[in-house]
Amino acid sequence: MRIIGTGSCTPLKIVTNDDLSNIVDTSDEWISTRTGIKCRHISEGETSADLGTKAALNALDNAGIKPEAVDLIILASMTPDSMLPNTACRIQEKTGAVNATCFDLNAACSGFLFALNTANAFLTSGMYNTILVIGAETVSRTIDWSDRTTCVLFGDGAGAVVAVSDNSKKYTAVTGSDGIKGSVLTGGGTVLKNFLVNSDATNLIADDYYMKMNGQEVFKFAVSKVPECIRQVLDKSEKNVDDIDYYILHQANVRIISSVAKRLHVCEDKIPVNLHNYGNTSAASIPILLDELNRAGKLKDAKNIVLSGFGGGLTWGATFMEL
Ligand code: ACO
Repeated sequence: MRIIGTGSCTPLKIVTNDDLSNIVDTSDEWISTRTGIKCRHISEGETSADLGTKAALNALDNAGIKPEAVDLIILASMTPDSMLPNTACRIQEKTGAVNATCFDLNAACSGFLFALNTANAFLTSGMYNTILVIGAETVSRTIDWSDRTTCVLFGDGAGAVVAVSDNSKKYTAVTGSDGIKGSVLTGGGTVLKNFLVNSDATNLIADDYYMKMNGQEVFKFAVSKVPECIRQVLDKSEKNVDDIDYYILHQANVRIISSVAKRLHVCEDKIPVNLHNYGNTSAASIPILLDELNRAGKLKDAKNIVLSGFGGGLTWGATFMEL
């Protein structure tokens, strides 16, 4: 696989840590020191499809190809606009990618990595040739804005890449999931309601709508699993830690990123960070960062990159790519 274009889009509205301290009992000092986040972009009405469409059009423009040339759209999102139609189809309509097959995929913050792996498998099989891989989220729709333990952490946004087949480029991935630990990060529950269901049961499910997180458990999981799966993917690719130009990690918490750098003995210059501007944008964080690096010209001389993420499910993964 080769990435021939990148794009991203975030809502215009910026919410600072000080803004949040006006609605919940928190402070810029607490949020900055515990997470590194300074502000986040929050939708004032744009949906995941709207943000994903703009990111996709930017990526197509960057690749220099027309929407009609796309034959598959994979959207990674835990905050789709609706169950029907799927949000990838909504993006198809808005972008004019009329020749594409479209589907959504959800693996929370690992979603973009899983979507990229799926795209790679399709390209390798020859089933599709030009694939738009998008991570788009309006996490703000699942946030309980009175819960200071979660509302300070997340932001909205979208990133996209255009991927084409290229057998000369090495692509290796490792992934994993642990459904037994799924309860440490939950949200988005929908109501099961019909004439056969006891009405008491619906209350339980409705209560599950807002995101809830056991932050310390997620933290412990991330700081052990991310370096572990990066080592695994490097072994599988027959590469050393130093062979990698950039480690593009899911942007959740700067303390997690520093811990990964330390455990892998990687200089932090090789691990770009932009979470201070966006917070955790879930499946959008890796493609937004990729787009920023690409547009800053930093990928021009890069030969090898590793992408790695973790998230609800629990899910995790690391991918090695030759550029
Ligand atoms: N402002 C002020 N105080 C707060 C806030 C806040 N926003 N949130 C919690 N606190 C308080 C707590 O109530 C607690 O108070 P207490 O000591 O009086 O009980 C105190 O701060 C410490 O809370 P901890 O939870 O122990 O804080 P911790 O240092 O663990 O940091 C954090 C919390 C930032 C959430 C950290 O655990 C973390 O980053 N975890 C990983 C989260 C993550 O990466 N999530 C993304 C998952 S990806 C996906 O799929 C969506």
